[in-house]
Amino acid sequence: MRRPLVAGNWKMHGTRQSVESLLQGLSQQDWPSDVDVMIAPPALFIQQCRDALTDLPVRLGAQSCAYQAEPGALTGEISPAQLRDAGCEFVLVGHSERRSLFAETDEIVCRKFAAALACGLRPVLCVGETREQRDAQLTAEVVGGQLQVILDTFGVGGLAQGVVAYEPVWAIGTGLTAEPEQAQDVHAMIRARLAMLDDEQAQRVQILYGGSVKADNAEALFSMPDIDGGLVGGASLNADEFGAIVRAAGRA
Ligand code: PGA
Repeated sequence: MRRPLVAGNWKMHGTRQSVESLLQGLSQQDWPSDVDVMIAPPALFIQQCRDALTDLPVRLGAQSCAYQAEPGALTGEISPAQLRDAGCEFVLVGHSERRSLFAETDEIVCRKFAAALACGLRPVLCVGETREQRDAQLTAEVVGGQLQVILDTFGVGGLAQGVVAYEPVWAIGTGLTAEPEQAQDVHAMIRARLAMLDDEQAQRVQILYGGSVKADNAEALFSMPDIDGGLVGGASLNADEFGAIVRAAGRA
């Protein structure tokens, strides 16, 4: 039985003051005991979040990391070792915004995945197709290709040390959520692909759905057999809404 995980990706939002009130709101939520919860604030606020989360069952993640674990001359980057030291347990790798706006290739994503694992972080590997790719019926090929690079290096067992997040690019920040069945089809395809290589490990891999998850669509999505929780962007900036999404994962 896979434990659900709901992760909040704050992206480039927040000031010290707004983070303070968001954390205040999170501290008032009723967190179910059967769901893992993680927030990924901008790196600047990790310390502030860590200090405020000590009594809450909310773990910390980062939105990206450098592609090497060792210290070095990488101006502007933050290493996974530094993130671990700051209290993070997770890190997103290969988010579509990183792939499209910062030219992160599958090879770079794979190096980040490796560096994160080497530092004891759980990488959350984001995969997903664009609208054009879906319309051209390339979803399986695109998502399969993004996974394959990681599988070639780490196998299914290595992937299972992290988390997969299926995020159709056309659903991110657009309000256009994939229909639950539509998302389930891709999640099932991902799991079947992993199962061909190693069925036992494939059943362990948590596969999250991301893309306009809201309190009012979360339960239907999370009820699908291969959807093991969510990666939530915009709606994670509202503590009550994020709390409601996490509770939906507990009911589903
Ligand atoms: P969204 O973002 O929930 O705002 O669509 C999801 C994500 O980018 O992780």
